[in-house]
Amino acid sequence: MKKIGKVGAALTLSLMMIMISACGNGNGNNGNAAAGSGNNKAEATAAAETDTTGNDKEAGKPLVLGFSQVGAESGWRSANTKSIQESAKEAGYDLKFSDAQQKQENQIKALRSFIQQKVDVIAFSPVVESGWDTVLKEAKDAGIPVVLTDRAVDSKDKSLYVTFIGSDFVEEGRKAGQWLSDQYKDAAEDVNIVELQGTTGSAPANDRKSGFAEVIASNPHLKVVASQTGDFTRAKGKEVMQAFLKSNKNIDVLYAHNDDMALGAIQAIEAAGLKPGVDIKIISVDAVKDGMQAASEGKINFIVECNPLLGPQLMEAAQSIVDGKTLEPRIVTIESTFTSEQAKEVLASRQY
Ligand code: AHR
Repeated sequence: MKKIGKVGAALTLSLMMIMISACGNGNGNNGNAAAGSGNNKAEATAAAETDTTGNDKEAGKPLVLGFSQVGAESGWRSANTKSIQESAKEAGYDLKFSDAQQKQENQIKALRSFIQQKVDVIAFSPVVESGWDTVLKEAKDAGIPVVLTDRAVDSKDKSLYVTFIGSDFVEEGRKAGQWLSDQYKDAAEDVNIVELQGTTGSAPANDRKSGFAEVIASNPHLKVVASQTGDFTRAKGKEVMQAFLKSNKNIDVLYAHNDDMALGAIQAIEAAGLKPGVDIKIISVDAVKDGMQAASEGKINFIVECNPLLGPQLMEAAQSIVDGKTLEPRIVTIESTFTSEQAKEVLASRQY
């Protein structure tokens, strides 16, 4: 297998992640790639795969990484895809990339295709949390190690994957809730909050909701009066906000689970003749460039960062696995938060 090259800048990476939990999960790379999954050819071709490196597999024998992406639903996702593709190229890996278009069935087909192709490592960002045990067991039986990136699965059997690299979404929700609680600590009247949730059943939607609810529970004036999914997209964020505005006359705060939905909602708020950030306070998650732009203009009041640049960490993890090293079962990315003023200061240097 090829070595990781520049991507293995271990010092930089160790600054970017906190390794928690002291022991490995015992799954790892068992080197047994002999058994196939028994899946048919239709499954193998169903996912739209692209090989981005152009490496000569026979001559160079690059590490083969199968990656199933959620889709292209948001600015965050585009930045995440770019990071993974660029990091794989830099590391000289043969990346088999598959876009699931926000559908779990497509991801399952892609994973089965990777198993059939006997890739060295499978990585994926699961669109929803549940329903992965069967296909993960197939990968395990085929001796192919699996890395989760960005989103978690709710499998009880932790030996089905080697590690999970990504954000702490509950903590992101807590940070959003904390900012709001601080803003309204002296409120004498009810504060009406509407919530735009991410994709139903996804880890970030579940966790950002629960983290936020946990923190605001300590102030009885903070009331979530409506909460609905906007599927992490701008179009849905706008549509659902329009509906919220129609049925709720006194909205004080919007909590959006990502920037794209907040940006769609801003369009709806402006179309209703209201001032985003002033008439309705807005909190969102991600801190992608468009979100930070809106924050620097005062339209979003507070953004919780969710770092999409997971490519280098994933490549390093894949290399460690094929090298037989033990990985921590959870790798958490370090993230920040931004008020409007802080967004203004860092906007020019934002990478994504
Ligand atoms: O899983 C991460 C989330 O997915 C991002 O916050 C959101 O923008 C994306 O679609």
